[in-house]
Amino acid sequence: MKGLILSGGKGSRLRPLTYTRAKQLVPVANKPVLFYGIEALAAAGVRDIGMVVGDTREEIRAAVGDGSRWNVKVTYIEQDAPRGLAHAVLISEAFLANEPFVMYLGDNLLKTGITPFVEEFVRRRPAAQILLTRVPDPQMFGVAELADGQVVRLVEKPKDPKSDLALVGVYMFGPEVFESVRRITPSVRNELEITDAIQDLIDRGCAVHPHLVDGWWKDTGKLDDMLEANRLILETFDRRVDGAVDADSRVEGKVVVEAGAQIVRSVVRGPTIIGADAKIEQAYVGPFTSIMNNVEIRGSEIEHSIVLEGSVLSDLSNRVIDSLIGRNVRIYRQPLKPSAYRFMLGDNSEVGIRW
Ligand code: TTP
Repeated sequence: MKGLILSGGKGSRLRPLTYTRAKQLVPVANKPVLFYGIEALAAAGVRDIGMVVGDTREEIRAAVGDGSRWNVKVTYIEQDAPRGLAHAVLISEAFLANEPFVMYLGDNLLKTGITPFVEEFVRRRPAAQILLTRVPDPQMFGVAELADGQVVRLVEKPKDPKSDLALVGVYMFGPEVFESVRRITPSVRNELEITDAIQDLIDRGCAVHPHLVDGWWKDTGKLDDMLEANRLILETFDRRVDGAVDADSRVEGKVVVEAGAQIVRSVVRGPTIIGADAKIEQAYVGPFTSIMNNVEIRGSEIEHSIVLEGSVLSDLSNRVIDSLIGRNVRIYRQPLKPSAYRFMLGDNSEVGIRW
């Protein structure tokens, strides 16, 4: 059994962060989202992993290396442009070498991992097995229609959904899929769609089995989902305080304070993680916040947010909430008049001002 993790793509829904960083490396609870995927595959016993990479190949390579940290072997597969999930399968044929494989979207997170999913596929060995979850808004997803325990139809973002079973970003395939990815043609968005390839398998009479996911699943491709994934992961943490907390501070609930971090005259309320060498001074860090290494929060309040390495928030008069702040960002108060906003923001930045 091989693994194929998709770590290319455009990441347009997470701009401007994805101008300078691969979306699969944006951290959730201070760990790149991609690492959760590698861990899920390793836990399911998949040791030989192909990593499909695009424009951000160097950054992914630098972060993942040869996979030995997870006791797996990673082979990089270059995709010239994001031509679709089925295109990623097509270009990986030589690596997959007629073995069955699990395909995992590099920006997806699953609470329970994928071990039962892989085991079921090995036991029943259909041509394909797809992971499904019930959603309240199937119009937004690829949706599967079932009959007699088999998948009979897949519809991408149906206007009038016949089921509430959405496709989750994990798939299992036998080598039968290669004929299908060769038979399909690009969709209106000019991508080779994996749903079309699976529909082609069904139309050719191959068995496509459904597997319902237990526990939550999150695609972290956009801001709200990223914050929700962060929330879900932080909730699973146990309290651990390795950094320094002064006598005037309160650290409440499930809080991780990494070594070298300092909490000074502040309140930190979990679930929250404070990265190594971060400094929280005269500040409030509220629930569901991930503060990365070397961040400084001074004279400010923040909750339900993610702040990446090296950023500084100082003396802000309003609490920062529901935010994803990139690396080395500085947000500070200027006491000078006129009282006004002063911005220097990259393309596609988003600032919401509430009062
Ligand atoms: P998506 O999130 O569907 O696509 P995207 O990365 O282009 O994002 P956006 O819609 O915001 O522009 O991709 C799911 C995963 O698969 C993600 O980890 C990127 C990866 N991917 C590839 O590796 N190659 C591809 O051709 C595509 C479309 C996605």
